[in-house]
Amino acid sequence: MLTPNDPFPIAADDERMLDRRRFLCAAGAAAVAVLAGEWTAARAPAERTGHVVLADALAVGEARGVVATNGADALAVRVDAETLVAFERRCPHLGCPVVWSAVRGRFECPCHRAVFEARTGRVLSGPPTRGLTPITLEVA
Ligand code: FES
Repeated sequence: MLTPNDPFPIAADDERMLDRRRFLCAAGAAAVAVLAGEWTAARAPAERTGHVVLADALAVGEARGVVATNGADALAVRVDAETLVAFERRCPHLGCPVVWSAVRGRFECPCHRAVFEARTGRVLSGPPTRGLTPITLEVA
C-alpha cells in the first residue's frame, strides 16, 4: 500500500519497460493483422475485373491477346472443346506478362518461372501468392 511519503511507485526504468512492452505488443498485433490480411487475400477468389467479347471462337490450344473493357491486356485461350478462358496477362508477382504454353497446356511467367493452371489461373508453382485475374469472356 502506498503512502503519501513513498517515492513515486514506478521507477523510470520500469516505466520505459512498460512503454517498450506496449510498443512490442502493438507491433506484434499489427504484424498479425497484416499477415492475416495477406493470407485472406491470397485465398479469396480473384475478382473478375474486365470483360472481353471475341468475334469468333478459338481453335483448341489457340490463344489470342485481347484488351478487356477495363483496359487490361488479357489472354483468351481455348483450353479444350468445352473450355474457353481469359485472364489478365499481368503476373500477380511483379507484373511481367504471362504467356500461354500450348505444348504444356498452362500459363507461364518468364520472369521468375511461375506456372498457372489453365482453367482456373491458380498458381501451380513459382513466387506468386495468388492466381491470375480472370476476365469474363463471351463469344459473339
Ligand atoms: S513476375 Fe511473374 S513470376 Fe515474377
